[in-house]
Amino acid sequence: MTTNIGKAHGKIILMGEHAVVYGEPSIALPFPAVEMIASVSAYEGPVRLDCSYYHGIADDMPEILQSLKKAIELALESLKQPYENLAINIESAIPPERGMGSSAAVAVAVTRAIYNYFNADLDHGRLMHMVNISEKIAHGNPSGLDALTTSSLSPVYYRKGADIIPFSLKMDAYLVVGDTGVTGQTKEAVQSIADRIEKEAQPISREKIALLGKLANHAKGFLERNEAKELGEAMNQAHLLLAELGVSNKELDNLVSAAREAGALGAKLTGGGRGGCMIALANNQSETEKIRLALLNAGAVTTWMTSLNQEEGL
Ligand code: MEV
Repeated sequence: MTTNIGKAHGKIILMGEHAVVYGEPSIALPFPAVEMIASVSAYEGPVRLDCSYYHGIADDMPEILQSLKKAIELALESLKQPYENLAINIESAIPPERGMGSSAAVAVAVTRAIYNYFNADLDHGRLMHMVNISEKIAHGNPSGLDALTTSSLSPVYYRKGADIIPFSLKMDAYLVVGDTGVTGQTKEAVQSIADRIEKEAQPISREKIALLGKLANHAKGFLERNEAKELGEAMNQAHLLLAELGVSNKELDNLVSAAREAGALGAKLTGGGRGGCMIALANNQSETEKIRLALLNAGAVTTWMTSLNQEEGL
């Protein structure tokens, strides 16, 4: 059936951000609470782009706009269609530059919408290939995790170059997501770690990255065995390592502390860092509410929550 719509959603990296760029494992979840919808319709003239973004797009985020244009070009080229006669509308509820995968999601949604408009099949490998090319503009050196998770219906255990392992979540716990309201540039954060590594005489940062990979592997076991307390501790350790790698900031540290003080089993930044969002692990719904309020009191601009039990609606 022909449709002119393409969708993608936000993502939450539970463990392994940044380390995944260096080949370490990571765990990420689709976050359908925030969605990206692209729609395509006939129009005469060069491609017209209308973006109704969470907070504007073109002026404040030229790189995202450029990577979006690249995604459109790639999709049209691969379908042997000219860059014209289409009006493309983007509606996004994903806050941009907050570690929620907005740039990958827009590329996924627009590629799907264009393929749907032309009634063409889009296999997953091709989608990932095209989205990752456009992600290079937004991110510089993407691991592929954002493209994968914003298009995936299930949580993923992902390591660059290895088979993707989808898995279901059965942990009796919840994640609270808190947005600092401060934008964080993933491209710059990724580059800052690369610069750090290059300058070091001893492989200090590389060791931290390897530890983050180990923690991601441990976390997979904790999730499988429903060991929430242990997962929370692993999240705390991961936040410390990410902070030592220079990708946290005072707003993130502040929300992470507030969540822990309010009883979170663990808390850490999520995504590229240097702004954006953090996540906290809660035992049950009433703890979740306490943490959410503590985050809002500590300055979070928005909070969301999601269950780590798939049956409950991930
Ligand atoms: C950004 O959402 C996640 C990073 O690990 C970068 C990447 O994987 O491409 C920081």
